Amino acid sequence: MRHTIDERDARRLLGGGPVTLVSTAWHGAQNVMPAVFVTPLSIDPPLIGLAVHAARHTHDMIRFSEEFALNIPTRQLLHHVQYLGSVSGAELNKFELTKLPTFRARRVNAPLLEGCVGWIECGVEDAYKIGDHTLFVGKVAAASVEQDAFADGVWLLADPEERPLHYLGINYYATLGDRLEARIPQAADIKRDVEAGAAELEDEESAARRREERERAEEEEQRG
Ligand SMILES: Cc1cc2nc3c(=O)[nH]c(=O)nc-3n(C[C@H](O)[C@H](O)[C@H](O)COP(=O)(O)O)c2cc1C
Repeated sequence: MRHTIDERDARRLLGGGPVTLVSTAWHGAQNVMPAVFVTPLSIDPPLIGLAVHAARHTHDMIRFSEEFALNIPTRQLLHHVQYLGSVSGAELNKFELTKLPTFRARRVNAPLLEGCVGWIECGVEDAYKIGDHTLFVGKVAAASVEQDAFADGVWLLADPEERPLHYLGINYYATLGDRLEARIPQAADIKRDVEAGAAELEDEESAARRREERERAEEEEQRG
């Protein structure tokens, strides 16, 4: 059964990407907020898009400092992520309140967070007003990972504690389960699958024919 959902909720169908914690620093002040409107935009140069609503304190922090860092948290920070997304740095100091441990970034002033498995440091290249958000185009200045979590260009997902956190919407999150390795089917595999499918179809057809014949014979027997 299919049913229509609100156009504004279409974004939720695309949810599931890793949650990021956007950390910023400006004139001695620091702030952090979760964001999932994050997407790679270019490989070379390495550009990442981050959409931030103009009402967020993070919006001003990025506009003034022209840089930000994306921290990729694990389930260890699950409840912190939700909390950091429910209060504003305009009103309180989230780092002071949560006492979240941080360490120095290599290329930006924004602090990096412990309890994460990936860190991306960006300088702002461009900013576009898109609908009710601003798309900040960040040029990656440095990136680092926890080796047990990410190696040879892929998430390993071996240890449940080292998996990135994904946002499903409202206050639901998930971590990815099995890592599936795909291979391109060879011509011989495709031929075998087609033949197996055809044989299965033939079996089903002859079974249906036999059933019909049996039913007809039973009907005739009852009549006669
Ligand atoms: C999981 C999660 C993802 C979010 N993603 C975004 C986002 O991509 N862009 C955005 O502007 N706000 C996003 N928000 C909302 C902000 O994080 C939230 O408004 C936060 O309190 C803003 O903090 P700030 O005012 O200190 O910047 C998200 C919230 C949560 C919980």
